[in-house]
Amino acid sequence: MTKKIQIALDGPAGAGKSTIAKIVAEQLDFTYIDTGAMYRAVTYKALKEGILLDDAQHLKSMLEQTTIELQPSKEGQLVFVDGENVSAEIRSNEVTANVSQVAAHAAIREILVEMQKALASKGGVVMDGRDIGTHVLPQAELKIYMSASVEERARRRLLDNEKRGIESTLEGLMKDIALRDQKDSEREASPLIQAKDAIFLDTTNLSIDEAAQEILKLAKAKMV
Ligand code: DC
Repeated sequence: MTKKIQIALDGPAGAGKSTIAKIVAEQLDFTYIDTGAMYRAVTYKALKEGILLDDAQHLKSMLEQTTIELQPSKEGQLVFVDGENVSAEIRSNEVTANVSQVAAHAAIREILVEMQKALASKGGVVMDGRDIGTHVLPQAELKIYMSASVEERARRRLLDNEKRGIESTLEGLMKDIALRDQKDSEREASPLIQAKDAIFLDTTNLSIDEAAQEILKLAKAKMV
């Protein structure tokens, strides 16, 4: 019998977490949960409703009247806000540029973290984010902290954006990524830090498959 463990995958933007998490989840027949998509969903709705992103109270009451659903599909995880499929919209430049500000509010994190804990409660999950190993699933059987150089991460995001038809430049992306890293690491509420018991994986010189295989090996050792 293999155990339905929880795998926490944290690290900065563009480290390859979501691509690798999807492969690992598929191979293990686990559910992949992209928590960044939830912060993006809140940001998307707030922008649409014209809510000021520094108004934590207003954002909180909006979120309390919002349903966010994650649905696994062949094309990856689909995200629904109040029943509307916003999977493409939450990846727009506008949402990407504003999501750090929303994710910095403790009141918003509290609500989303509760939802994330509930989603992972039965195990058999690969959850990717920034605070999964430190706050959301501190009891996870396997914690990985994944990173890569800023330039390599920007290069990957550029390719990803090209595929999605989003315009960007390598220099612009390097600046954005460095700034987002800084905001995510320096915020007071659940900053991006490696959990003490997380395994560090530098993916700068690893292919997607090599990184996935490394995690699968670690996961299988925990599943016996
Ligand atoms: O992984 P991503 O780029 O989709 O994440 C979007 C933003 O949400 C990013 O600024 C970091 C933040 N985030 C967070 O604070 N905590 C998480 N568990 C996941 C994402």
